[in-house]
Amino acid sequence: MKIIMLGAPGAGKGTQAKKIADRYGIPHISTGDIFRANIKNGTELGMKAKSYMDAGNLVPDSLTLELVMDRIHQDDCQNGYVFDGFPRTIPQAEALEEALRADGQSIDYAIDIEVPDENIVTRMSGRRACLGCGATYHTVFAPPKTEGVCDRCGGELTIRDDDKPETVNKRLGVYHQQTQPLIDFYQDKGCLAQVDGTKDVEEVFQDICELLGE
Ligand code: AP5
Ligand code: MG
Ligand code: ZN
Repeated sequence: MKIIMLGAPGAGKGTQAKKIADRYGIPHISTGDIFRANIKNGTELGMKAKSYMDAGNLVPDSLTLELVMDRIHQDDCQNGYVFDGFPRTIPQAEALEEALRADGQSIDYAIDIEVPDENIVTRMSGRRACLGCGATYHTVFAPPKTEGVCDRCGGELTIRDDDKPETVNKRLGVYHQQTQPLIDFYQDKGCLAQVDGTKDVEEVFQDICELLGE
């Protein structure tokens, strides 16, 4: 099963993608997590991506596509995957379509998690993320069992550099301009599904499982 998570920054793409990956036994591919891991490890890719991410802008398509094309051809992707934060521009979506077509494949579901902009800044200010496994928490809405410690892997929870309110607003603007058009793109392909992302985490997951039909 090949799934794309769409939605604004903070809509819950990462939260739901992790749960889908666990439930369906497919890898969770978050381009944001991959870039952050590269920044942490001081790689060349990380150094190239950092200035764009800190400013709330998108990393150039060429860098993103190179890493994604490499990732989807790894062995664990044979039964599918759930993309989180990719594609994010029309050229990225077209490049993905072309790569899949070359392999005789297509996307099964593009799931758009709908959350109004007003809710986003509150969500981001309480977000805590695990650099070890990528799990995401919220101080109020989804707290870890022990403050500051990841339930899944025991890693340390940190605040993301791009979660400052002014950067969040910039990311929202970039989302509306460059990523929202993908909703129509996948509607036209006939694989778009929309869920109400203002419900609580478990309810949103239940709605997603229903539409995946398994
Ligand atoms: P990325 O890491 O993808 O960030 P994003 O899209 O801005 O999305 P977020 O990770 O901020 O939000 P999310 O939807 O995953 O929400 P989450 O589940 O954490 O990208 C970061 C940067 O990398 C980009 O700005 C760009 O520079 C670069 N980049 C990445 N991919 C790229 C690409 N393809 N092309 C170019 N550049 C790229 O939830 C948010 C918070 O809300 C959490 O605290 C969570 O616990 C809480 N929460 C979740 N669901 C609920 C709920 N239902 N109710 C209440 N709280 C909830
Ligand atoms: Mg995320
Ligand atoms: Zn962890």
